[in-house]
Formats: sequence, C-alpha cells, structure tokens
Amino acid sequence: MKFFVDTAVTEDIKELNDYGLLDGVTTNPSLIAKSGRDFKEVIAEICEIVDGPVSAEVAALDYEGMVKEADVLAAIADNVVVKLPLTLDGLKTCRYLTDKGVKTNVTLCFSANQALLAAKAGATYISPFLGRLDDIHIDGMELIREIRAIYDNYGYETQILAASIRSPNHVKEAAIVGADVATIPPGVIKSLAKHVLTDKGLEQFSKDWAATGQSIL
Ligand code: E4P
Repeated sequence: MKFFVDTAVTEDIKELNDYGLLDGVTTNPSLIAKSGRDFKEVIAEICEIVDGPVSAEVAALDYEGMVKEADVLAAIADNVVVKLPLTLDGLKTCRYLTDKGVKTNVTLCFSANQALLAAKAGATYISPFLGRLDDIHIDGMELIREIRAIYDNYGYETQILAASIRSPNHVKEAAIVGADVATIPPGVIKSLAKHVLTDKGLEQFSKDWAATGQSIL
C-alpha cells in the first residue's frame, strides 16, 4: 500500500520524505488554511520535496470554474494531481481532465455509488473518507470493501485512496481490505513505528550492551 501524507506543513513532509516513507501528499482547503501559507506557493514547494503525486484541490464549484482552476494547478508542476469534489460538475471536470492526460483525485466520497461514478469518469484516485463516516457511526471500512469489490468486478483502474484516516488501526484495516493508498496525518504515520515492547526490548538491549563494555566502532 502506498502512503501519502495528508498535510500542507512542509517541515513534516520533508521529515517523512527523508525517512523514505512517502509516496505522495494530499492537501485540502482546510489544510491550506491551517498552514497559513499561499496555496500555489506551498503546492510548488511540496512538489519540489516529493517526487510522487501531490493533490491540490480546486475551490470552484461549477464546471467552467473548476476547469480554469485545474489548468492553473496542473501547470504548477508535473506531479500535481487535481483534486475535485464528488459532484456532477466535479465528475464532468474529471472526465475532461482525464481525457487531457491530467491526473485527478475525486474527493469527499461517502458511498459506493459515488465511487462507481468516479471510476466511470476516469478518476486516477477516489478518496473515501473513513473517519468522517465513523464520526456519524457508519462503518467507513465497509465502504472501502464495497468499492474494492466493485472496482475488481469491472477492472476499473481508479486507485482507492483511503482518506480521513485518524488512527493506526485505520491504516491496518485499510491495508487488509485492499486500499491502494492511504493518506495519513504525519503523527499517525510516525506512530505506526511505535510499540511498547519495541521500546522495552531496546532499553534492555542497550543496558546489556553497555555492560559488555564493548564498542562496535
Ligand atoms: C483527504 O484527502 C482529506 O484531506 C483528509 O483525509 C480529510 O481528513 P479529515 O476528515 O480528518 O479532515
């Protein structure tokens, strides 16, 4: 499973990229607002840090507006993926961009039928939002299972990008049910490496090694 980081904070992106753990980045208008940075400037900077796909979301809600904004965003760098809302106008824009060879991420997906439409529109990625479904007591992981089954039934190439991930358990479950990608907040990515028994074991090994009085170098 590929790992994207879900943030517009370039320091966090650099750190995770240096660990060799990043396959791409997703942003959204709320993350851009939180960063306090200029949208196009921060997307350009992220695209220089990471070789993989970087999602940048349109703000317009109508087809003509989305197409104009998509042209601006796609021109920032070759690895920009244009993020579009799962609305009829967003799907129409998706088909237009796909036919032009521009990569797309259709976002705010909350049902299998929406995901089916995104695949039919030629989306590169579909983003089902797990955490926001869980927030309203609907099993987000079941949605990923349904989309996986539908895409496999018909051989759709749209990649399932598990989004709105809130915990290490979400990452594990998304991998088990066959999401192609997970976009994960920086803190959750780092927490995947943690285990209390790893810490305990390391403490004991360090103590025992010190007692030998030896040095490797
Ligand atoms: C995905 O592309 C979205 O940016 C993100 O995963 C939303 O997560 P949230 O529901 O925690 O805001």
